[in-house]
Amino acid sequence: MRKVIGNFKMHQTPTQTKEYLLQFMSKVDGTKNEVVLCLPATSLTTAKYMVSGSNIKLGGQNICDDDHAKTTGEISGDMLKDAGAEYVIVGHSERRTKFKENFRTNNKKIKLAFKNRLKVILCVGENLTERNTLKMLESLKIQIEESLKGIYENELERVVIAYEPIWAIGSGKLPTNKELDRAVKAIRKVITDDFSEKAGQSIQIVYGGSLDAKNVNQYLKLNTINGFLVGGSCLDPLEFATIVKEV
Ligand code: 13P
Repeated sequence: MRKVIGNFKMHQTPTQTKEYLLQFMSKVDGTKNEVVLCLPATSLTTAKYMVSGSNIKLGGQNICDDDHAKTTGEISGDMLKDAGAEYVIVGHSERRTKFKENFRTNNKKIKLAFKNRLKVILCVGENLTERNTLKMLESLKIQIEESLKGIYENELERVVIAYEPIWAIGSGKLPTNKELDRAVKAIRKVITDDFSEKAGQSIQIVYGGSLDAKNVNQYLKLNTINGFLVGGSCLDPLEFATIVKEV
C-alpha cells in the first residue's frame, strides 16, 4: 500500500470540490492505496460528507503556529479536525518563501497538530543552490532536526515526511532514481540517528515535485519511498485517479 496525497494549493471552490469528487471517487473505488486530499480549508466540510465511508482521507494545507484565538486569517487544529481533516501539511516551501515560515514555526505547528490529533505531512527539500553546492544532505538534516525538536519517537507514526526538492516543484524537473534514493536514505539516517533504527526504517516518506501520470512509474522500483505528494497533476480528477491506480 502506498500513500498518494494531493495538494490542491489554492484550487477548488466548495462547488468545484463537489464536482471533482463525483468524478474522482468512482474511479478510485477499491484502491489499496491510501488517498489523502489536502484541500483548501473552505472545501473540507463539503468533502467530509462526500468521502464519509470511503477510503479517501482529507487534509488541510496549513495550521496556525499558535492556538490563541486572536489571530486574524489563520486556521487552528480543532477547526481542521472538525471540518474533516485527518492530516495537515506543515512547512511547504511555498509557505516558507511567501510567509517567511521556518523550521521553528514548523515545530510549533507540528506540536499543535498533535494536540488536535492530526497527522502531519512535513515537507522538506533542498533549493537549487544547496543542490549545486552539494549541501543537500546537510540542509535536509537541519530541516528535519529543527522541525522535529522535542517530538517523541512514538509520535513519529503520526508524521509523513514529504521530500520535495524546491527545484522540482512545478518545474517539470525530476530527480533521478539514484538522487531520490540517496535523499530518502539520508532522511532515514537522520531519523535513525536522532531516534532509533526502528524509527528510521518505519518513518513514512513520500516524494513530491512535478509528478504526473506518465512519469510517476519511474519511481515504482524504489522500495525506499512510501508514496507520492502530487501538486498540479491532482487537479484533474481523471489524471489523479490514474496515478492512484498505477502506483
Ligand atoms: P507539483 O506537483 O505541481 O510540482 O507540486 C508539488 C507540490 O508542491 C506538492 O506539495
